Amino acid sequence: MDQIIIEGGYPLRGEVNISGAKNSALPILAAALLAESKSRFKNIPKVKDVTTMLKIISSLGAEIIQKDDTLELNPVVHKSFASYEFVSTMRASICLLGPLLAKKRETKISLPGGCAIGPRPIDLHLKGLQKLGAKIKIEKGYISARGELRGNNIDLKGPFGSSVLATANIMMAACLAKGKTTIFHPAREPELIDLANFLNKMGADIKGAGGRKIEIEGVKRLEGKEHTIIPDRIEAASYVIATAITHGEAEIKRADPKHLSFPLKKLRQAGVQIALKPGGLIVRANERLRPLHFITAPYPGFPTDIQPLMSVLLCLTEGKSVIKEDIYPNRFVYTGELQRMGADIIPREAGIIIRGVNVLKGAKVMVSDIRAGAALILAGLAAEGETIISRVYHMDRGYEDLVKKLSGLGARIRRERT
Ligand code: EPU
Repeated sequence: MDQIIIEGGYPLRGEVNISGAKNSALPILAAALLAESKSRFKNIPKVKDVTTMLKIISSLGAEIIQKDDTLELNPVVHKSFASYEFVSTMRASICLLGPLLAKKRETKISLPGGCAIGPRPIDLHLKGLQKLGAKIKIEKGYISARGELRGNNIDLKGPFGSSVLATANIMMAACLAKGKTTIFHPAREPELIDLANFLNKMGADIKGAGGRKIEIEGVKRLEGKEHTIIPDRIEAASYVIATAITHGEAEIKRADPKHLSFPLKKLRQAGVQIALKPGGLIVRANERLRPLHFITAPYPGFPTDIQPLMSVLLCLTEGKSVIKEDIYPNRFVYTGELQRMGADIIPREAGIIIRGVNVLKGAKVMVSDIRAGAALILAGLAAEGETIISRVYHMDRGYEDLVKKLSGLGARIRRERT
């Protein structure tokens, strides 16, 4: 198993290019299966989750040709079955359920199971597909769905707000359903707008993605098209915060700051200087930053995926910060590792209180999920001395060339096999 070793205390300086959004690429690759002909993609991120998705898609029969960040997908689907072996390694494979059901009229997919960031039910996915007329059975850890789909009114509001992948699943399935589907309380994330744009290019009739109601008029067939994946807003935010926490100055290129309005507003409030440029942003932080209060919420609120990264930044501010996590109330496992580096964090109902300290100190720490891993990297970059991070395979799932990109910004970071 690999580990990452960081010698902390060096400000990040220079430029970094942001890759395509993992959370856009995953449902969009699934959507390509709905078509009757080939699709071509640009800006596909080279991350493990995308590799896993491509493995599942090829196991169904589809032909894939990949070169650098471009990919051609021929959606020949002989099989409509995704096994536990694949789905257990990546929850996002659940977004194959809608497209496979719509295209093949029946499918069987493993239930995704547990996750380090807390319970992640799929009731909204199933409720939505049932409303479209699917007959669903759950047996021996598998979801079997079949039936001819018909448009309907579907409310996707859940106890924690909306669900990104449930919205994606229903949107994709409804494209080939008979008649009109209206989704109330959909998730509004930019990745869903990217998905809707791709589906509309393919011949779908979707209106309102990104808004409070999505209307989909079913069509008979879809054709493959060319599409460029939007930039990864969570990766971009990770480099913004890495620059700020090391008191550096860097240009984050090929990013879309519009997708980060709320977190950038909070970072400015903390004292980070951010200048927007076409296709990116320049970040600078040269003084001690200020504490913040925030609550995570579905887009356009504060993203849960940026919460662990922001927590690390707040560990080094002067004063008390309060964070409440409203999407995954258990997403604080990483705080135990930060405490080992000298952070002062105490749990509070569905949240944490952080009291800023003057320094974090390098230590051996362990990663529990993708964003927790990125948070520990940031802590290592800002800490005094050496930080050794284990279980780094979690970061491979969502960050392309993490060590290379950070080294390019001047970080003293290396990856070693243990
Ligand atoms: N939820 C339900 N019922 C459902 C589905 C979800 O109650 O049927 C609840 C969940 O318990 C949670 C909330 O809705 O409180 C949203 O979670 P969900 O499981 O729907 O998230 P997701 O769509 O599976 C995407 C991202 C996650 C990101 C969340 C929230 C992808 C591939 N994944 O997951 O990304 O945290 O939205 O923004 O788009 C990551 O990239 O590290 C990551 C975990």
